[in-house]
Amino acid sequence: MAITYDYIDDYLYRIAQPRDLLLQKMEEEADTGAVPIIGPLVGRLLYNLARSSQSKNILEIGTAIGYSGIWLGRAVAPKGLVTTIDKDPERIKRAEKNIAEAKLQKIIKVLKGDALHILPTLKDEYDLVFLDSDKDIYLDAFKLSVKKLRKGGLFIADNTLWGGDVAKGGKSELTQTMIKFNKEVSGYPGMSTVIVPLRDGVLVGLKE
Ligand SMILES: C[S@@+](CC[C@H](N)C(=O)[O-])C[C@H]1O[C@@H](n2cnc3c(N)ncnc32)[C@H](O)[C@@H]1O
Repeated sequence: MAITYDYIDDYLYRIAQPRDLLLQKMEEEADTGAVPIIGPLVGRLLYNLARSSQSKNILEIGTAIGYSGIWLGRAVAPKGLVTTIDKDPERIKRAEKNIAEAKLQKIIKVLKGDALHILPTLKDEYDLVFLDSDKDIYLDAFKLSVKKLRKGGLFIADNTLWGGDVAKGGKSELTQTMIKFNKEVSGYPGMSTVIVPLRDGVLVGLKE
């Protein structure tokens, strides 16, 4: 999935600040269990964006084993909240265990079910939305969640360069899905967007 030069990627990982044992263990757990997670570079980016925007109420779509949720939970602790949604019961169990180990049970609330069913039921307004689910729901999840994002809030989505294929105009269904997603989010009224070419491409949008 290298979208920049390998030597640049290697450098970014070499210079990445160390993580605590729990995050390191989760990185290994994801690696050996083939669970796709954002990894330490995007984790740090999310943390910095959440902290610098002084986000207090965060919505995440796609929990997996709780890795990105823990980066976000640490950014809003001790008083903020992260609501995170996943439909996979086995992954949710592992996420809850990891969240407990991080002592963030009071900060991170995991909602179980299909995000497209849960999103319309949420009543809160969020400071930051992080989207990292299956890609076929990206556009619908964006349309539902952007309504819940406050003005001045951040909409962030992972995998938006899709291994670089979106830039090559790839014809696969998922590449076309991501091309459409990037175009619609970038054209959304009042949304200031940029794709950061980190790892697999992180779209950062500011709702003005
Ligand atoms: C890429 S993983 C999330 C990784 C996580 N954000 C991290 O970096 O630690 C995507 C997750 O989204 C969940 N997911 C996919 N489609 C979903 C949907 N329609 N509703 C809820 N969860 C969904 C999957 O079960 C999977 O665990």
